[in-house]
Amino acid sequence: MKLTIKQVTKTFKEKKALDAIDLELTTGVYGILGANGSGKTTLMRILASVMKPTSGQVLLDGQDIMAMSHEYRNLIGYLPQHVGLYKNFTAEKFLKYIAALKGLPKEETDEKVDEVLELVGLSEARRKKVGEFSGGMKRRVGIAQALLNDPKILIVDEPTAGLDPKERIRFRNLLSKISSNRIVVLSTHIVSDIEFIAKEVLILKEGQLIKKETPQRLLKGIEDKVWTLVIDENEIPRYQSQYKVGNIARVDDRFQLRILSDDQPDHDAIQDHPNLEDLYLYYFDEEETA
Ligand SMILES: Nc1ncnc2c1ncn2[C@@H]1O[C@H](COP(=O)(O)OP(=O)(O)O)[C@@H](O)[C@H]1O
Ligand SMILES: [Mg+2]
Repeated sequence: MKLTIKQVTKTFKEKKALDAIDLELTTGVYGILGANGSGKTTLMRILASVMKPTSGQVLLDGQDIMAMSHEYRNLIGYLPQHVGLYKNFTAEKFLKYIAALKGLPKEETDEKVDEVLELVGLSEARRKKVGEFSGGMKRRVGIAQALLNDPKILIVDEPTAGLDPKERIRFRNLLSKISSNRIVVLSTHIVSDIEFIAKEVLILKEGQLIKKETPQRLLKGIEDKVWTLVIDENEIPRYQSQYKVGNIARVDDRFQLRILSDDQPDHDAIQDHPNLEDLYLYYFDEEETA
């Protein structure tokens, strides 16, 4: 199975949300990394065929997905960035309702709902109202609904936004579990979400695909640029104005800075192994990387 994105451009009035994206996806997890407004959701909506590109095409094994219509929709599981769950429905009722909307045969529905509930770890909570669920549980209901039709292509848009670390890990493990034999496209701005589960990381910046690499390769690219340095509190602003500074950790009464720099920022600075968070900082220099 191969999904080919060919010169896909999407323009909203004057705004180019996606700019001539070329991409080829096969089975495995792809992590789309990008700052807010970089075009992640637009790309995912196009892949989910809920939005048409302004120009360019998406092909599944050579066939235009727009022409495939229902046939393509049946292969897709999509978890939008903002999902409306029916608060007063129980998890089970909600899933049965979505199954009906998706046109699942009635005689298969009960079994399928049991199966996805089990998969996402919500069997026990199936008779609870979705409105009473935690953030993580709601996301798992979201994934469960996306899996009802056993999709060959699963598209999840920022599934971990707003989750606490424990829920994020749980969600990550779930994705990893369900990723075999499917194309999974996952967007996030939380780099640790994809560091270990993505086969490739795609970095979007202002509508352009600026990198497409394995996480390992990407990290190798910044191998000698990550430094840690312990300083006094009053020195922090100086480093922040001169360098890209990531994590700042308190060490006794001093502070350890994580600095991205081509050159050693100070002779006391020690080189460290890069992680995807460093990479994100290197490319985007954004505050929100945790
Ligand atoms: N329906 C829309 N109408 C107008 N502009 C849009 C629309 N959807 C997205 N955009 C713009 O396109 C750009 C990319 O948005 P989006 O794909 O949502 O980015 P991301 O998901 O990475 O935050 C942004 O500048 C956004 O404001
Ligand atoms: Mg988005």
